[in-house]
Amino acid sequence: MVEAVQDAGVVVTGAGGGIGAALARRFAAEGARVVVNDLDADRAEAVADEIGGIAVPGDASAVVTEAREALGGTVDVYCANAGVGSGGTEAAEEAVWALAWDVNVMAHVRAAHELIPDWLERGSGRFVSTVSAAGLLTMIGAAPYSVTKHGAYAFAEWLSLTYRHRGIKVHAICPQGVRTDMLTASGSAGDLVLRPTAIEPRDVADALFKGIEEDRFLILPHPEVAEYYQARATEPDRWLHGMNRLQRQWEEATAR
Ligand SMILES: NC(=O)c1ccc[n+]([C@@H]2O[C@H](COP(=O)([O-])OP(=O)(O)OC[C@H]3O[C@@H](n4cnc5c(N)ncnc54)[C@H](O)[C@@H]3O)[C@@H](O)[C@H]2O)c1
Repeated sequence: MVEAVQDAGVVVTGAGGGIGAALARRFAAEGARVVVNDLDADRAEAVADEIGGIAVPGDASAVVTEAREALGGTVDVYCANAGVGSGGTEAAEEAVWALAWDVNVMAHVRAAHELIPDWLERGSGRFVSTVSAAGLLTMIGAAPYSVTKHGAYAFAEWLSLTYRHRGIKVHAICPQGVRTDMLTASGSAGDLVLRPTAIEPRDVADALFKGIEEDRFLILPHPEVAEYYQARATEPDRWLHGMNRLQRQWEEATAR
């Protein structure tokens, strides 16, 4: 059991399935009181029933007030997990870009806006962002996803460096493939890049809890991502060349 989360009031957005449901299950198993949010009310309620949590369905951008009431006045841990897979190129429709910004970035900003004043007053709070390895690297065939996940990572980093001396902890989870509906929907690009090393949602929850115990910001359920991230920073052209090789492999496989 992790002492920091026992009896904590926890919110997990997008927790009707996939990684969010695994996080909600793990927090509940660790003795936390969990609010299960999802756009899909039936799925949120099913997970809440299963773990003895409280369902607060709706858009992840507007969950804090109701969740706080449901938890008796305070949110101790907020998991900004809801996300949209948004594939496409520079030619993706404006609406696709707008939804990706809204869910993958602005929902995190809006939640923090509501949470931080209370956390600063109490001198504690934990913000967990489910980013993606695409936020550190990039994902072929998915410009809106890659760009907004970089935004989510930047925001988590900014929160961490701004408030760490005031008792606020931040974790950024950056997995590659995880066996969820989103991986299924990622199609041939996901099959090429993500599926071969895909892990289970509960492995992501395990990695987060290890990171909480070790008080680490960056959570890498696929440890090899650290090497790719380093290669990107130190040898950008070599790294881009390697990524372009993947792009060409994908084009050949799909006859683009
Ligand atoms: N599956 C992967 O390979 C993978 C890899 C890296 C990062 N991620 C990230 O993990 C997070 C969870 O994804 P997942 O793989 O579990 O996908 P998923 O599709 O199984 O679950 C996402 C859930 O979020 C909900 N949702 C979508 N928009 C919402 C909104 N505006 N408000 C509330 N709920 C909303 C959906 O209804 C769904 O239940 C996402 O942020 C995703 O980008 C996934």
